[in-house]
Amino acid sequence: MRFPGLSISLALSLLVLVSGLLVPLSPPFVVKEQVIPPRRWLQHGTPAPDHTITLRIGLPQPNFRVLEQHLYQVSDPDHPRYGHYLSKGEVDELVSPDEESLGSVNAWLYNLGFKETDIERSSSRDWIVLTMPVSKAEKMLNTKYYVWKHSESEEYIIRSTSYSLPSYLSRHIDVVQPTTMFTSTKNHRSTIHSFRPDDTKQKAPAQASKTTSSPTSTAIDPSCSQTITVSCLKQLYNLVDYVPSKKSKSTIGIAGYLEQYASLEDLQTFYADQVPAALNTSFNVLSVDGGINNQTNPGIEANLDTQFAFGLAYPLNGTFYTVGGRPPHKPSLMTPTNTNEPYLVFVDYLLGLDNPPLVVSSSYGEDEQSVPEDYARRVCNQFAQLGARGVSFLVSSGDGGVGDGIADPNQEKENPYCQSKDGKNITRFQPTFPAGCPYVTAVGATIGFNPETAVNTFGSGGGFSNYFKRPDYQHEHVPKYVKALQAQDTYKGIYNPAGRGFPDVSAQGDLFRIFFHNSSGLVGGTSASAPAFSAIVALLNDARLRTSKPSLGFLNPLLYSKGVAGFNDISAGDNPGCGTRGFNATKGWDPVTGLGTPDFAKLKKIIT
Ligand SMILES: *[C@@H]1O[C@H](CO)[C@@H](O)[C@H](O)[C@H]1NC(C)=O
Ligand SMILES: *[C@@H]1O[C@H](CO)[C@@H](O)[C@H](O)[C@H]1NC(C)=O
Ligand SMILES: *[C@@H]1O[C@H](CO)[C@@H](O)[C@H](O)[C@H]1NC(C)=O
Ligand SMILES: *[C@@H]1O[C@H](CO)[C@@H](O)[C@H](O)[C@H]1NC(C)=O
Ligand SMILES: *[C@@H]1O[C@H](CO)[C@@H](O)[C@H](O)[C@H]1NC(C)=O
Ligand SMILES: *[C@@H]1O[C@H](CO)[C@@H](O)[C@H](O)[C@H]1NC(C)=O
Repeated sequence: MRFPGLSISLALSLLVLVSGLLVPLSPPFVVKEQVIPPRRWLQHGTPAPDHTITLRIGLPQPNFRVLEQHLYQVSDPDHPRYGHYLSKGEVDELVSPDEESLGSVNAWLYNLGFKETDIERSSSRDWIVLTMPVSKAEKMLNTKYYVWKHSESEEYIIRSTSYSLPSYLSRHIDVVQPTTMFTSTKNHRSTIHSFRPDDTKQKAPAQASKTTSSPTSTAIDPSCSQTITVSCLKQLYNLVDYVPSKKSKSTIGIAGYLEQYASLEDLQTFYADQVPAALNTSFNVLSVDGGINNQTNPGIEANLDTQFAFGLAYPLNGTFYTVGGRPPHKPSLMTPTNTNEPYLVFVDYLLGLDNPPLVVSSSYGEDEQSVPEDYARRVCNQFAQLGARGVSFLVSSGDGGVGDGIADPNQEKENPYCQSKDGKNITRFQPTFPAGCPYVTAVGATIGFNPETAVNTFGSGGGFSNYFKRPDYQHEHVPKYVKALQAQDTYKGIYNPAGRGFPDVSAQGDLFRIFFHNSSGLVGGTSASAPAFSAIVALLNDARLRTSKPSLGFLNPLLYSKGVAGFNDISAGDNPGCGTRGFNATKGWDPVTGLGTPDFAKLKKIIT
């Protein structure tokens, strides 16, 4: 976030112009958005009127399509501009709102008594952040806020079910949140199998197997079907022989949200167990929005992500980004402070850096329908901005198969959580966000080898976005799968055949042996797959940078074209959810395992 981008004199002249000519005394309001809250959020009470709320106002980005064109050109391996990423200034310029929108919104805020010093702006001026009492927000947005309680997680949030804007402003504002956003961002770690101190006695296979230099499935250590270690991933994905440069400029970042802290001590125990060469090395910790890294309170998610990403990518430069935004104390019931919008805060932060990390892994997400569409689009656009800067952003695809609440795949009864929340209660598969955003690379989960199949201990998140249409880079691969479904009328009406299909790729996603509070245990989830795949991308970047080529940036246009030959196609298993067996993994792309799992040596050949 940067302070005023707009010069004061310009702001003042617009104030006179707009307040003189356009702002009526009590403007007619038009409803901007109205939602039915998801059923796990229950109305609990009313917030104290003086409770403060921090609103984010998104102004339109009239040139976003131009930015998107740049993104696709610089990410297309067959385009002359491949790898010619945009600078921070160029991206800011392309997403900045027009002066009319800036002026109208400024005038509105000044008329409401806000001063320029109360207003925080993103560096491209497309987001405004300001804090005020709830009672003032209610007047501004002609709405009423309530306190809502989540029936399972017992989180409390303050939200409204609709909000309005003065009619003359409606086209100058895309979105105001938090208003109608009922989300409960989860980490995508579904399974914890065991945490026993004595587990360490059953020593994991040591560093890379020495038995073979070009592993085939027969050369893989048999223990890898019971326990996944860094060495197993190197064997499975054909990178046993690769020695990254110690001086590499290839960097990898892990996103930590929701008070998930990564233990530096557990990392050493993990390294002693699985990556002895990395002992005594560590990762950087960077704080975003006041995030901390509390060493007495580590989280399994953060430990999993850092141990496997940095262990597999060793000796590349790894950074753990701990994103604040939720205070550590337990808020009182009528004054919850949960703002629940970690991606925007984190991506804004990354966009503000002159040299963002080249690869970022984020193992968090939520049901797409719990994120209001206008907000999801804006956050998705921020990912496009990162891609244009040359950052590969990878996310886990979710652990609920085709829909939240997998439970028993054999249960026939309708799953209420798979109903549309438009009031019609139609059964719909529930894609996840941000996996369904076309500008990220979504990673699903597999298990076993010989053959490697879709994970069967939970459902690898997959399907088709209801918000985002199929991007061009999928036109070669995804329609084949959809046509086969349509030929049999399979799942007609409960998925969006024109939507962005996900995941894009996959990697092992269960039985990962990690350390937590100095004990080893096995954990799983697409949360494990995303950092594993991300580390492989960071190693590919190392190979690129060595040959003086730019980093890979936004991966999907490459993966769905030349990259296809660098994947092990996964064609067995499915992803149950919503009381169904979900989709099948098949030959070619499928909405369970995407294009498949990486073959590092083949991918390296393709990209260098
Ligand atoms: C790590 O540091 C310890 C204590 O300083 C030292 O005994 C050990 O040899 C080091 N290990 C490696 C692999 O550098
Ligand atoms: C760190 O975590 C411990 C254990 O949960 C807690 O007691 C302590 O207050 C936390 N420290 C901070 C700074 O949040
Ligand atoms: C590693 O990356 C971080 C974050 O980008 C940076 O702050 C740090 O200086 C880098 N360290 C090295 C040794 O390059
Ligand atoms: C949809 O489900 C909700 C909650 O069970 C119920 O209150 C509502 O009447 C249902 N609507 C329809 C159209 O069936
Ligand atoms: C953690 O466990 C290892 C053995 O796995 C042991 O050597 C070490 O002393 C333990 N550290 C702590 C702080 O308990
Ligand atoms: C998945 O494969 C099974 C077994 O071949 C078949 O019965 C089922 O219809 C397929 N499901 C889908 C969604 O294609």
